[in-house]
Amino acid sequence: LKYLTMIIATLKEISEDENRVAISPDTCKQYCKKGFSVYIEKNAGVKSSFLDIDYENNGAKVLERDEILNQADIILNVTSILKEPELNKLKKDVIFLGTYNPYENFKNLNALAFKNFSTITLDLLPRISRAQSMDVLSSQANLAGYKAVIEASSIFKKAMPMMMTAAGTIIPAKCLVLGAGVAGLQAVATAKRLGCVVSVFDVRPEVEEQVNSLGAKFIHVDQKKELEGSKLVYAKEMSDEYKKKQSEKIHEVSKEMDIIISTALIPGKKAPLLIKSNTIKSMKSGSVLIDLAASAGGNIEGSIFGKKISIENTILYAPSNLPSLISYDASLLYSKNLFNFITTFINEEKKFNLDEEDEILRKTLIIKNGNKTTFFLKD
Ligand code: NAI
Repeated sequence: LKYLTMIIATLKEISEDENRVAISPDTCKQYCKKGFSVYIEKNAGVKSSFLDIDYENNGAKVLERDEILNQADIILNVTSILKEPELNKLKKDVIFLGTYNPYENFKNLNALAFKNFSTITLDLLPRISRAQSMDVLSSQANLAGYKAVIEASSIFKKAMPMMMTAAGTIIPAKCLVLGAGVAGLQAVATAKRLGCVVSVFDVRPEVEEQVNSLGAKFIHVDQKKELEGSKLVYAKEMSDEYKKKQSEKIHEVSKEMDIIISTALIPGKKAPLLIKSNTIKSMKSGSVLIDLAASAGGNIEGSIFGKKISIENTILYAPSNLPSLISYDASLLYSKNLFNFITTFINEEKKFNLDEEDEILRKTLIIKNGNKTTFFLKD
């Protein structure tokens, strides 16, 4: 071999609630094909239904955690952030790649500015077309939107589709989706497939077309022309007047709803509060509300991250990690995103090139060779 083979590795996720894994047997095969060695911690894929033997059959070495720590060049994670004493066992210029939720994990990430370590977090990936194949947020949010509706349907004490039976007719459930981004649009599509009558709110008027094409109704808020001409990838923050009108409209519409799925967010900002307690109070008994934005403060008043609670005769659920509940497919897509990312930045010597000239790396590389980069410095 002309160059020392780079070792790409993954470990068992630290959190009990994290079922995903950062390398699938399929991407393992692709890394090997590209000339890398792949090391997988024993049982790292089990919670995604990938067995050690599946990895071995695709070219990986399955090893104990400690054996990996002192050999890996790149460690791929889903959400785990390694800590002492493990940090001391690592090679001095290891690269971490994952989704570390940097807005919330400042302290733990600070500890990675150590030795010559580098950390790349893909939650900061810019939404540009070149980065689409690496976009973990979209691949996971899409599955989360689907799973949110499935979760709602299993909590809900009524059926979702219309059913005409000899014993009577069941009327279809009414579902409101707040925020028609990646998660929201998949929630709309899923609720439609299950037979719900679906309505949608979003502050970006241009999503109306997509909403309609899925067979759902876009709800308008009377407003001034402040949004005209805006072709935004992310929503901007709204004026107080708009927020008031939106709030009144949502209140009025919510009274009729059986299910509300909220996904409204502007990245890096606190989630907008869209459903207040008085609205929940006015809803039908047995209604189900699912708040996907709880980690950023929540769209629904009273939602508690990770908890399912009873509130005013409704059930309010703020799942902490929906992609983890659909871990097989979530891992397949996530690991593929990571593979696409890594292979974009591999140089001729088959080493990872930490070149900040590139917009994608400039945004995602939060620690370079032991030094914190602009992400930390600007806050
Ligand atoms: P996205 O950025 O694609 O979509 C967010 C949508 O919300 C945009 O269409 C935006 O215009 C809209 N929005 C923003 N402010 C609004 C407001 N005040 N009123 C109405 N609409 C508003 O984001 P994506 O990828 O769909 O994710 C949505 C949320 O789901 C995020 O909070 C994300 O963190 C969360 N999420 C939660 C998961 C979980 O397991 N709990 C898993 C994956 C995502």
